[in-house]
Amino acid sequence: MADKTIVAFDLYGTLLSTESIAKQLETYIGTKAEAVSALWRRYQLEYTWRLNSMERYEDFSIVTKNALVHALAEHGEQLNDNNITALMEAYDHLSTFPDVKPALIRLSADASIQPVVFSNGSKTMVSNSVLRSQDLSMHASIFQDLITVDEVQRYKPSPASYNHLATQMGKQESQMDQMWLISGNPFDVVGARSVGMQAIWVDRVNKGWQDAVAPELRPSAIVHSLEQVVLVVQGRR
Ligand code: LAC
Repeated sequence: MADKTIVAFDLYGTLLSTESIAKQLETYIGTKAEAVSALWRRYQLEYTWRLNSMERYEDFSIVTKNALVHALAEHGEQLNDNNITALMEAYDHLSTFPDVKPALIRLSADASIQPVVFSNGSKTMVSNSVLRSQDLSMHASIFQDLITVDEVQRYKPSPASYNHLATQMGKQESQMDQMWLISGNPFDVVGARSVGMQAIWVDRVNKGWQDAVAPELRPSAIVHSLEQVVLVVQGRR
């Protein structure tokens, strides 16, 4: 294991698309669904950052549910418990982005790479999302581990979350640059770079890097398809 290159994949927004949840939301609140769904994701992340700042912790599924209620309220909407439960259950049946399957097949052909999932989700939420997603479950065995932040109760981009990944992978603090984070979320990429990890930003819509929270912290590489990840990692070895 010591010689393998650790490649840690973010889950929501990187491997799994939450678009299907927005579609389900549309059946409840019609045309407001797009705006509510964007605000929901924003609050979901904002809540994790606020909890980190307050040194408090709530399970990611509770954070996600509370963020939904907040986003709905801001648009003058409210859903009954059954609908909220149904939306939360939709997290167990998300689709992968189209480039995920070919990327994972390429990845599995390189025995020197050790792919893992690294997510803000709780262990239960992440294993349900991975093992019950029709698209992702068939490739689940490629991932040698599902690392979640609930063991340290600190969300990304806290150093504690990435250090936890390192500990789980048997890496010292001085070996952070031997691990790769693959994420579609710029805040995650910057967080990993901040503690010295390598990080690839997946820019599927060709938006270009805009994040400026710490302008000197940029992705180690930017790819437009997850399929390019293996080549980047192999090229830097
Ligand atoms: C995750 C969040 C960032 O999966 O979506 O960790």
